[in-house]
Parts: sequence; structure tokens; C-alpha cells
Amino acid sequence: MSTIFPPSDENLRRAVRLLRAGQLVSFPTETVYGLGGDASNPEAVTRIFEAKGRPADHPLIVHLAGAEQLGEWARIVPQQATILAQAFWPGPLTIVLERAPAVPLEVTGGQDTVALRVPAHPVAQRLLASFGGGLAAPSANPFGRLSPTTAQHVAEQLGGRVAAILDGGPTEVGVESTIVDLSSGTPRILRPGGVGRHEIAALLGSELGPVPTVGAPRVPGSLERHYSPGCPVELVAAARLEALAARGAFSVLARRSAPIDFEGNWRRLPDEAGGYARGLYAALHELDRAGLPILVEEPPEGPEWEAVRDRLRRASAGRRAVAGEGTK
Ligand code: TXA
Ligand code: MG
Repeated sequence: MSTIFPPSDENLRRAVRLLRAGQLVSFPTETVYGLGGDASNPEAVTRIFEAKGRPADHPLIVHLAGAEQLGEWARIVPQQATILAQAFWPGPLTIVLERAPAVPLEVTGGQDTVALRVPAHPVAQRLLASFGGGLAAPSANPFGRLSPTTAQHVAEQLGGRVAAILDGGPTEVGVESTIVDLSSGTPRILRPGGVGRHEIAALLGSELGPVPTVGAPRVPGSLERHYSPGCPVELVAAARLEALAARGAFSVLARRSAPIDFEGNWRRLPDEAGGYARGLYAALHELDRAGLPILVEEPPEGPEWEAVRDRLRRASAGRRAVAGEGTK
């Protein structure tokens, strides 16, 4: 297992040396932990794909210290990008733009666009400021699996495949950044996340297209199954949750407490979207360890729940936790 380091000045300098040498360093962002490598070094980028077991045509997000670096990575910076960067950076928003000619094709999966983000976590900020360049960083988990929200999650899933892990504590937002595509005429949300679509639409003064559901290979999160624990996950209507749980041999994730006679693993998350998102991956990591199928109480419909609904839908896609009849 690679070692987890507290983010002292000395360890940050060490991390920068490793990154300059083309090694991988996992670092915290406010959304999830990233698996970072020098975005201008094709060998480092190739190492990221190998460590994750990720197909090479799935592009990576380039993390920058500040919006003033946008022009080094994007061919043109449209006014809409400047508006969103001013409003949400540093923060959980990723902007897709046409790539500058110098951006390695390894980073962009061979595409003419590049995804860019300025993260807010103080450790990410310090690391990027002293590194100086762009860090390509997908979530630090094996391809398709649960994203890490603690340094321990990274060590469990990718330890040994990364030179160092900087520990910045549990992440604040808990789900990945919102990805907005500004590379073609119409702004589109490619992945819901830490920034709500209405906040983005209000600033751009336009409605945004729906999130692609299946297929679009440029967003791996849009593959049917993604963000997923080893154990099967199934979404269950609140009214049916307790009766199913009482059958036994399930773990449960809900927004209310366990009935007093329930003896298995029951995790309760807040009935509020921000708090729920913050705890979601840690709860799934923990329930996954119990080795039983996981029943998840269906999340509410409100717009503030869009990112949570998206992740749970993908975590449960194509698999059933409950044998036999439908569970809705
Ligand atoms: O919150 C986050 O965004 C985290 C932290 C570490 O920053 N990163 C993250 O990276 O979630 P990853 O690689 O797990 O997901 C990045 C998503 C993928 O769905 C990828 O396809 C999409 O960004 N993406 C990257 N470049 C793209 C591009 N040029 N066009 C469209 N989608 C792109
Ligand atoms: Mg990911």
C-alpha cells in the first residue's frame, strides 16, 4: 500500500517532485479524491489510465490553479466560460472547451475538446500552485467503481498504484463536479454534480440540454453502470423498504432510522441533498464491506437531488438486489 501523508509543506514539496518525475499522486478536492498526474506529460497520463484500468478513449479533467491558466489549455475561451469561471471557481464545476493545440491527445481521449476545472480544496490549491502546470486527475478509484471521499478509500482501492496519497480529510461536496460543455453552440450539462443546473442556466441566460443517459462514450459516467459498489444495489420505494429489509440478508441506505427490530447494516443519511451527497460514497463503501446486496431508499424528486439521483441510478443500473418480483 502506498503511504498516506498529511499535507505538510514538506510533503507537498515531495508530491510536486513526484509529479514532475511523471509519478502519480492522489490529492483531495472538495468533491472526491483525484488521481493526479502531469497533464502535459503523456507518460504520466498513460500511467493514470493503467492505474485505473480505464479505457484510453475516456478523457480526463485537467485541474488548474486558477482561471487565468484557461488560455493555456483552451483554444478559445468563450465569454460564457469566463462568466461561469468567475461565478463558480474555485469550485465543483468542470468546463469543456475546444483544446489548445499543445494539449496531449492522451488527456482528451483523442478528442478536440478538453475538460478544465479549478478545485477549491485548500490542499489541491496549494499543490496546483506549487506545481504550476495542469494536473490530469480522474476520481481515484478503479474504473466504474465507487469514488473515494477519504484518503483511506484511495489506499483501499488503489494503494500500491500511486506514489503518494495526500490526506485532506473527508471531502465536503461528496459527489463529482458538474460538467458543462461549452465547446459547441449550445451549452449542455454532461454530468450533474456539485453545482446545480439552475444556477448555471441563470448565469448563461439559457436553458440547458438534458444530461445524456446512455451510450455517449466521452462521458464514462454516462455508461449505464458506473459509480458502483461490488455488491448489487437496488433503489426501492420508501413504502416498501422496511418490508423488504425485514426479509433479511440486505444492507440498507435510507433517510430515516432503522426499525428497532432490524439487525443488519442500516445507514441513515440526512434528508437534505447537500448532507446526503456528502455522506453518500462513504456510506456505500461501508455497506459494500458487509458483502450483502444493498437496498437504497429512492431519493426525492427535487432539482437539488439531481446529482444524487444520477449517481444512485448508475450505481444500481443493470443489477438487482432483490430476487424475484419487482420492487417498486
Ligand atoms: O469532481 C470531479 O470532477 C473529480 C475530481 C477529482 O476533480 N474528477 C472526476 O474525474 O470525476 P473522472 O475522470 O472520474 O470523470 C471525469 C468526467 C468523465 O465522465 C469524462 O468523460 C468527462 O469528465 N470528460 C473529460 N474530458 C471530457 C471532454 N473533453 N468532453 C466530455 N467529457 C469529458
Ligand atoms: Mg470517476
